[in-house]
Amino acid sequence: MKEDALREQITQTGKSLYDRGLAHGSAGNVSVRLADGWLMTPTNSCLGRLDPARISRLDAEGRLLSGDKPSKETFLHVAMYRERPTAGAVVHLHSAHAVAFSCLADIDPENAFPPITAYTVMQVGELALVPYHPPGDESLAEAVRKLAGRHHAVLLANHGPVVAGSSLDAAVNAIEELEQSARVLLLLRGHPARPLTAEQVAELNRRFPG
Ligand code: 13P
Repeated sequence: MKEDALREQITQTGKSLYDRGLAHGSAGNVSVRLADGWLMTPTNSCLGRLDPARISRLDAEGRLLSGDKPSKETFLHVAMYRERPTAGAVVHLHSAHAVAFSCLADIDPENAFPPITAYTVMQVGELALVPYHPPGDESLAEAVRKLAGRHHAVLLANHGPVVAGSSLDAAVNAIEELEQSARVLLLLRGHPARPLTAEQVAELNRRFPG
């Protein structure tokens, strides 16, 4: 896809996330890989009201070439791309159910979601919990970098999810599934649930590899 079309796609995707309550205020950021750098949503921008012409254009080192000042989470996005050479897009949200889940005290940091549905397994996989660091801090990007090679989806503690995908559509589908899985798991809290078995998970991973 050409750069202009990608700018439009980021803008439309941001509006769709905002209109459905998955993004609010200036929370969240979206990036797409180009042949020689990235497009990144500007810092403090509302995903529902992006201007395609003002989206930040970064070079291959992550330096701003044109557009508004990029997201404070640019380091984190670049860390994800560096560890995942096939990633074409990265999305970060503060969507309510995933954020609520990220604040729970009793989650497994290597596998935060039990395999509750087939789509949780297929789209989210093993979700890693990233220890808390302040937004935009390089220590947060470094913590993500350590996990990104093994996990395309991570949950920042007391903050929100970050997901990489082969394309923007793939990353958005996966982060929406992550939000939905968090919602289902919160609905199930206090109820005896029946997650998929290890055999059922292995079968899904065979049928639908990464
Ligand atoms: P930016 O406005 O800098 O993109 O930051 C928003 C955010 O979601 C921080 O985690």
